[in-house]
Amino acid sequence: MPENHAPLGETSIAHDPIAQFGEWYERALAVEKPLPHAVALATATRGGRPSLRMVLLKGFGARGFVFFTNYRSRKGRELEKNARGSLLFYWGGLERQVRIDGRIVRATRRESDDYFATRPRGSQLAAWASPQSEVLPDRRVLGRRLAELAQKYPDQVPRPPYWGGYRLLPEAIEFWQGREDRLHDRILYRRARNGRWLIERLAP
Ligand SMILES: Cc1cc2nc3c(=O)[nH]c(=O)nc-3n(C[C@H](O)[C@H](O)[C@H](O)COP(=O)(O)O)c2cc1C
Repeated sequence: MPENHAPLGETSIAHDPIAQFGEWYERALAVEKPLPHAVALATATRGGRPSLRMVLLKGFGARGFVFFTNYRSRKGRELEKNARGSLLFYWGGLERQVRIDGRIVRATRRESDDYFATRPRGSQLAAWASPQSEVLPDRRVLGRRLAELAQKYPDQVPRPPYWGGYRLLPEAIEFWQGREDRLHDRILYRRARNGRWLIERLAP
């Protein structure tokens, strides 16, 4: 059977959705192009008006799914008021989709500092220069700011206090595997009160 029609069975799937995600992610990194780590992030206003954008996954594990951004951006402002979000991965070559819902919390300052320090200097300066999601009078203003900041920080660029990581703490993770005749597999993991994961099959 070709891998992209490999069945997803309640008994063969990992007990832990993070382990299952790890298997799929590793496969996606090996075969999907471009940007298998790109993921759609949904947030919403307090009133429930949704918004979506792509971000890059920078880590995952038992402590959640991590991405980095500007805390003052639209997503950052929405998360301040409504800390719930969803992530959606789509790996077309493998006919796979993974959807993850949960609460989103800020990463620690230490984590944000550590990651910021690994970024290229240009990206570090851009994090200072760009007031993400605000209206700009024109593009030149960014170039001017970048030049000023390059002078201000000739060596190391500190992390802006409003830039850093978020961590989505999963409460539900659904794995979707395309199968023949549209009888796709959908396996949902839901976190129960006792912290254990319940595994259910959903109709495609
Ligand atoms: C493939 C891709 C990856 C992206 N990765 C990030 C990211 O990791 N962090 C980020 O802040 N914006 C990223 N962006 C830009 C966002 O999609 C978005 O334009 C920006 O974060 C502002 O979103 P907001 O106004 O909803 O806050 C990415 C865009 C694309 C197309």
